[in-house]
Amino acid sequence: MVEHKSQPLAGKVAVVTGAARGIGRAYAIRLAELGADVAVVDRDLRSFTKVASEDEAAAGRSTEEHIIGLGRRAVGFAADVTDADSIERAIDGAVTALGQLDVLVCNAGGGSGSMSDSLPANATAQHVNAVVHLNLVGTISTCRAGAKHLRGRGWGRIVTVSSMAGSRSFPGGGYSIYGAAKAGIEMYTRSLAQELGPEGITVNCLAPGYIATGRLSAMFDDIGSGDLLKSVPLRRFGTPADCAGALEFLVTDLGAYVTGTIIPVDGGTTT
Ligand SMILES: NC(=O)c1ccc[n+]([C@@H]2O[C@H](COP(=O)([O-])OP(=O)(O)OC[C@H]3O[C@@H](n4cnc5c(N)ncnc54)[C@H](O)[C@@H]3O)[C@@H](O)[C@H]2O)c1
Repeated sequence: MVEHKSQPLAGKVAVVTGAARGIGRAYAIRLAELGADVAVVDRDLRSFTKVASEDEAAAGRSTEEHIIGLGRRAVGFAADVTDADSIERAIDGAVTALGQLDVLVCNAGGGSGSMSDSLPANATAQHVNAVVHLNLVGTISTCRAGAKHLRGRGWGRIVTVSSMAGSRSFPGGGYSIYGAAKAGIEMYTRSLAQELGPEGITVNCLAPGYIATGRLSAMFDDIGSGDLLKSVPLRRFGTPADCAGALEFLVTDLGAYVTGTIIPVDGGTTT
């Protein structure tokens, strides 16, 4: 765990979507370590129990329970980002419970289906709808629901989440719809930064590479980490803590003059 001597986010409130496990959990915990009170939003607040290594590391504690253990306020809201009313109710509820909103992290997302489902000329309408709704539409709905609380207060941070797939195709075209949805998030981020910048709100996007969450570690082992790592100049997979470090830069004063940009957290991966 990163030790924080100062708490630059003391008195601030953060909402993180998809924060019950994986990288989102690391974002939420890092924000709490930096001093923020945190609302955890996830369609399944105990999704960590579905991944053995994460379940073991969490020792039965949900993200919000872990954060309360750090001495911060935390609340959990079960909500689905693909349902605009559901995410709006969750963010309104977070503001009611914690008093305000300062930092919004739109992390919920991911790919789905097999490689062949996601080939550009093969993708079914059902696959396209599911992936675009979860990633692009979910992010837009979350930003819309959060922006109304962030505006008019002179300071705010929004961080969206893309992927290296948002700017580079994989050999053979796999994950094409996921990549297209993530590319949409990147462009939406740039536009939102234009709209909210005059109000002191920065809007940036993180684009992780191969991040060894509990869910993906086993898959990396199956594929053969040696081959995958040839495309990573740093010759290791990223960790959720690597992503949380980039988030820390964006949401504290270190990143005060950074907006409308996409930050790769991928060890230089070339795919
Ligand atoms: N892990 C990686 O290597 C990697 C690489 C690039 C980008 N990303 C992106 O980072 C983000 C987090 O990835 P992860 O690997 O930690 O994922 P994960 O699957 O381990 O965790 C995702 C969390 O989001 C929740 N979630 C899923 N759909 C949701 C919905 N509709 N509404 C609310 N919550 C929902 C899940 O319940 C889960 O708790 C995603 O946007 C993903 O696309 C991950």
